[in-house]
Amino acid sequence: MTTAISDPAQALLGVYRPAEPMFVAGEGSTLISESGDRYLDFTSGIAVNALGYGDADFAAAVRESLESGVVHTSNLFRTRPAGELAHWLTEHSFADRVFFCNSGAEANEGAFKFARRWAAEIGGGGKHEIIAFHGGFHGRTFGALAATDRPHLQDPFRPLMPGVHFAAIGDLDGVREVASAAATAAIIVEPLQGEGGVQQVPPAFLAELRAVCEEVDALLIYDEVQVGLGRTGTLWAYEATGVAPDMLTVAKPLAGGLPMGAVLLTERVAQAIRPGDHATTFGGGPLVASAALAVCRRIGEPAFLAEVRRKGAWVEQRLGTLRHERADVVDTRGAGLLWGVEISGDAGAVVARALDSGLLLCTAGANVVRIAPPLTISDEDLEQGFQLLASAL
Ligand SMILES: Cc1ncc(COP(=O)(O)O)c(C=O)c1O
Repeated sequence: MTTAISDPAQALLGVYRPAEPMFVAGEGSTLISESGDRYLDFTSGIAVNALGYGDADFAAAVRESLESGVVHTSNLFRTRPAGELAHWLTEHSFADRVFFCNSGAEANEGAFKFARRWAAEIGGGGKHEIIAFHGGFHGRTFGALAATDRPHLQDPFRPLMPGVHFAAIGDLDGVREVASAAATAAIIVEPLQGEGGVQQVPPAFLAELRAVCEEVDALLIYDEVQVGLGRTGTLWAYEATGVAPDMLTVAKPLAGGLPMGAVLLTERVAQAIRPGDHATTFGGGPLVASAALAVCRRIGEPAFLAEVRRKGAWVEQRLGTLRHERADVVDTRGAGLLWGVEISGDAGAVVARALDSGLLLCTAGANVVRIAPPLTISDEDLEQGFQLLASAL
């Protein structure tokens, strides 16, 4: 029997601490609350809503898919959008094959399974270890969490998936210490660490990781769940580094806010995967795949990406000014429309003050305020957001 509760939301499991406003509508880069207050969104639903709110292309794709009547068939049957989306992704990346799932953590779980399957074929069951990095974030499921070096997230849930080693970004010797041909299946790294404080990984280090992977016959996995699909001003963050992976995971912006993730793989890896090796009921369903096709086609336009870079350059310059003007701004870093503002104080307090003044921000660690507006944000909204940010600081 349940007892009556006044606020229906009390029935939600308490794993989140949502802020006060209840959002009921959105347009462009603005969310509108139940009480009619407007909030400029510099979070994009944590780097998800790349096309902002109320995008016409996205809405048309979803509507058309709904009107077909086929939202889901399972992967027992073929549907057109998944194939078209996989084809688009392979035409626009290093990859030859794609596996669809439903979130970022699931994409990383899939990548780890594919890596183990591939590695076992060449090195047997002992070749199953993963090397990950301090500051990285790969998700909350057991495998992804095992590769996410955050003791406060991991400790209550041990034992996690075994066989994960951590190294520091830039510490090649540390990587070599834990890498071996007999044991290592893959190295996973975010080309730009999002949750870990918006930290760029030097391209030269990625090239060194690539070389280690060749030496010990392991796969290089890029987690582009947060930074993929235009966020950094190129379609994939790795493009700016010149170092391609063997697998890449993507999720957040992929289906414009509908739940979808994907693993992009080379044929070399795909050759090791057999029917039944991995599966998920909802993966690549026609509704989400249709939405994702609309999102990918928009973001993939060279002019769209050029706009992200132009706005990113403006943000970089504004943040540079802020850093010079304010002693409490310790560092500013990022690319495209993902930036971190490291401050000497508590980033959560800045986020709270910004919320009070109508700007949505989020943190990336205790001292970093994260800026991740929709990629479609207008110059006027960017300008207004920066004025609100400066006051909140
Ligand atoms: C880089 C990265 N990988 C994986 C994840 C997990 O994604 P999801 O929350 O969709 O499981 C996140 C989420 O923030 C992320 O930033």
